[in-house]
Amino acid sequence: MSVKIKVENLTKIFGRNPKAVLKRLQKGESKETILKETGNTVGINNVSFEVKEEEIFVIMGLSGSGKSTLLRCLNLLNVPTAGNIYIDGSNIVEYKKKELREFRQKKVAMVFQHFGLFTHRTILGNVEYGLEIRDVPPEQRVEIARETLATVGLAGWEDKYPHQLSGGMCQRVGLARALANDPDILLMDEPFSALDPLIRREMQVELLDIQAKLKKTIVFITHDVNEAFKLGDRVAVMKEGEIEQIGTPEEILTHPVNDYITNFVQDVDKTKVLQAKHIMFKPGALVSIKDGPKVAIKEMKNAGISSVFVVDDQRRLCGLVTIDDALKASPKHQKLEDILLNDYFVTAPETYVEDLLPAASTAKYPLAVVDKHHKLLGIIVRVSVLSALVHETT
Ligand SMILES: Nc1ncnc2c1ncn2[C@@H]1O[C@H](COP(=O)(O)OP(=O)(O)O)[C@@H](O)[C@H]1O
Ligand SMILES: [Mg+2]
Repeated sequence: MSVKIKVENLTKIFGRNPKAVLKRLQKGESKETILKETGNTVGINNVSFEVKEEEIFVIMGLSGSGKSTLLRCLNLLNVPTAGNIYIDGSNIVEYKKKELREFRQKKVAMVFQHFGLFTHRTILGNVEYGLEIRDVPPEQRVEIARETLATVGLAGWEDKYPHQLSGGMCQRVGLARALANDPDILLMDEPFSALDPLIRREMQVELLDIQAKLKKTIVFITHDVNEAFKLGDRVAVMKEGEIEQIGTPEEILTHPVNDYITNFVQDVDKTKVLQAKHIMFKPGALVSIKDGPKVAIKEMKNAGISSVFVVDDQRRLCGLVTIDDALKASPKHQKLEDILLNDYFVTAPETYVEDLLPAASTAKYPLAVVDKHHKLLGIIVRVSVLSALVHETT
């Protein structure tokens, strides 16, 4: 996937004369000293990263770590003190007024934690707002706004006012308003943090559904690690204006770069992050359907196991053979085909460990992980499921 946003050595200093302060920062002076001696706050310090097209990129960090400051640089609500921000290859930091206006109207849209709705406008009027600014003709505006409201599950609420809607519904309006302009990039600043847990989870699922359909590039901010790992294709963890680690949820969980990250992710429910592909391993033995019971017996004995998966010449899963059945079949000159079992669990590589738990706890045999062509990718034994829950897999 191509790079949509490229942030290069971005620094944002608040207060007077930031360029002079930048020199002190670059010489290695600490943020504390700078604040004490100059009164300037270093919001973002020399941050670089890339966001790919159609990716949900999550920025996670404690309150005050610089998440909003960073996000607001991406549409130049914050003007960077230093650094470059390339969007589709062009450096928005250099944009003149007109380019910037177009960029904000067409390329990006923002969703805020506290919705930011106009209280005196109807729901439809709120969603129409961005289209109005772009001088879209009224009829077309209404049509687009209605469609977008339907996308976020609010058909029928067009004529109501924000105070008549629940928090979750208001945030759907906020999302619809952002989507109405059909921007490439959605910037979302803790959009679900003010919602009740149940509604919040609903909205997370809704966002993933919408993203599956619309395929935007999303930069999503949260201070909640579970939310970050649920939504993020990749996650950047911020601390005091800097990025400590960037990676997929699985990478961050299994290879934290330092103690700060380890602490940050220690309460994460790993079963919701790790998938079958992360905990499967290569089978110790594998038998071809063309082999006979004798080969199967030998393979199982060598590997010290009591059952083995059988595959065809394309490595597609045919079934499973137990050592007992193979021992009985061998003198009778039966083929493997005659003694194949199929009462094992099969799972896709993307299945979350959470959803494997019931199968893993009752299964007589290892779980088979297969791709969509039924090729055997790996196996999962109960122990590997359990250890995924307990140990770091570093
Ligand atoms: N407009 C501003 N003027 C001065 N300091 C600011 C401004 N905006 C943010 N800051 C400071 O920058 C730091 C990062 O803030 P922010 O980006 O809002 O953090 P987060 O969104 O992670 O909670 C904080 O120390 C905050 O006080
Ligand atoms: Mg913030």
